[in-house]
Amino acid sequence: MAAAATLVKESSMTKPGDAAMPLLAVTGISKRFGVVQALDTMNFDLKRGEVHVIFGENGAGKSTLINVIAGAIQPDQGSLAIDGKDVRFRDVQDARRHGVAAMFQEFSLAPHLSVEENIFLGAEPNNRGFLKIAERRARVRDALTRFGFSIEPKAMVARLSRAEQQMVEMTKALLTDPQVLILDEPTASLSQKETESMFGLVRQLCAQGVGIIYITHRMKEIEAIGDRVTIMRDGRFVKTVDVATTTQRSLVELMTGRSFEKFYPEIAHVPGDVALEVKNLTTMNGCVSNVSFAVRSGEILGLAGLVGCGKSEMIRSIFGLEPVRSGTVEVNGKSVPVRSPARLLEMGVAYIPSDRRNEGLMLLRPTRENLTLSSLGQAELSRSGWLKTANERSFATRLGERLRVRPLELDKPVVKYSGGNQQKIMIAKAMGRETRVFLFDEPTVGIDVSARVEVYGFIKDLVEAGAAVIIVSSDLPEVVNLSHRLLVVRSGEVVDQIDKAEISEGRVLHGFFGTTNEASSH
Ligand SMILES: Nc1ncnc2c1ncn2[C@@H]1O[C@H](COP(=O)(O)OP(=O)(O)OP(=O)(O)O)[C@@H](O)[C@H]1O
Ligand SMILES: [Mg+2]
Repeated sequence: MAAAATLVKESSMTKPGDAAMPLLAVTGISKRFGVVQALDTMNFDLKRGEVHVIFGENGAGKSTLINVIAGAIQPDQGSLAIDGKDVRFRDVQDARRHGVAAMFQEFSLAPHLSVEENIFLGAEPNNRGFLKIAERRARVRDALTRFGFSIEPKAMVARLSRAEQQMVEMTKALLTDPQVLILDEPTASLSQKETESMFGLVRQLCAQGVGIIYITHRMKEIEAIGDRVTIMRDGRFVKTVDVATTTQRSLVELMTGRSFEKFYPEIAHVPGDVALEVKNLTTMNGCVSNVSFAVRSGEILGLAGLVGCGKSEMIRSIFGLEPVRSGTVEVNGKSVPVRSPARLLEMGVAYIPSDRRNEGLMLLRPTRENLTLSSLGQAELSRSGWLKTANERSFATRLGERLRVRPLELDKPVVKYSGGNQQKIMIAKAMGRETRVFLFDEPTVGIDVSARVEVYGFIKDLVEAGAAVIIVSSDLPEVVNLSHRLLVVRSGEVVDQIDKAEISEGRVLHGFFGTTNEASSH
């Protein structure tokens, strides 16, 4: 607690008499991008010491709103006030000087600079250049420790995992001592444990009077950390409610304008032949050690575990993305001698990565190209020929509509889509080819409730048509509800294997932490 006190400026504490005055007031903000009215006379207010969640579907305008508040974009109209005084931010630095800092959804880090260089890029200009390297390093090390992140200041950002990059982004924002801290899906790639420490930090900051704007698609987080929720739809304000007096159901209804009876579909389990088998797989880096498992056509195999436990590396190494020391992979009974993504795609295996920006998408290329790229090579090879379509547009349209990419504009570069829509484009991309085995790594990161229902429906269709699916997910309810069989991974090993009827969150958690043996009686 004492450490956190140093994060906050004196000026951010409530002064007598101004209790009713919001820390931040947003009034009538509008912003248009071409034909899209991203924000339409939006209102919002933030109190000191509260966590105010912004909730809305993909493309509702959440990131645009916080970009305006953080000075990253200029609104077409409307006003911002801090402590009752009108402010207009020229840019992000200007907003920081007024005590507003953001951790953006798509990071603002320079990948080829070190952690410390990145953190100091965001510092006040008068700090720049005046600090000796050793002093700078000590300050960064001190800040990282204070916030509970174990990251080496000299490490190059490109080498860090997404979760670690998120921590660097957070440290960068916190070092400016903000009064208003904006977090856009801060836990999207964090595990439960890291999420807990992030929450701890958020609570400390609140206790010091910082106001926090928090964007998330995860309902559980709203309950865990939120005080109030503002729901947005189509760039407009819908309602602000207290978390304590609202239900998940009403939030979803306010967000989408409709209700969901069933979130997770019933997916028939009709296992056929073994589609993919892994024997004694061990990676060079030791993240995966002597793992064996098989998935049959017509079934979903889930891999659950904490971040960093090796579950992503398991499917990455199958697909040839992680160097392997030993072990074999067979697809439909045929061994895969040289594992490479191209070879596995040819054999009908698709990998849908968790990191859409670095591995999944060509961000600056048109959506159309992104959607069709992985199918074109196959189209030439394909016997059926239906993929050999001269009509790339109609093919891309079909895929985009199936995943509800909104609004679907084929010529727009992917980078201009909202985060969740980018995720949908990436999944859609893998659906274009004739694929028998799907390896999903965190399939629903950053996508909204309705799109999730779509993605789950999609996976159901694939499996019921005979595909074999492996889902790696840190979202426990997701793997627990979708899997026909679930493997629990800890420190690179499979520590439990659970059949559908026996799957429960409790048993999986025991596996995560190694608190029981009763489960591993297979
Ligand atoms: N730079 C841009 N150029 C063109 N259109 C944009 C740009 N930024 C956002 N948009 C559009 O504005 C709308 C709102 O996008 P925004 O990113 O604010 O959504 P969001 O609520 O953050 O969604 P998500 O949950 O997917 O992150 C979307 O239709 C999006 O495509
Ligand atoms: Mg967003």
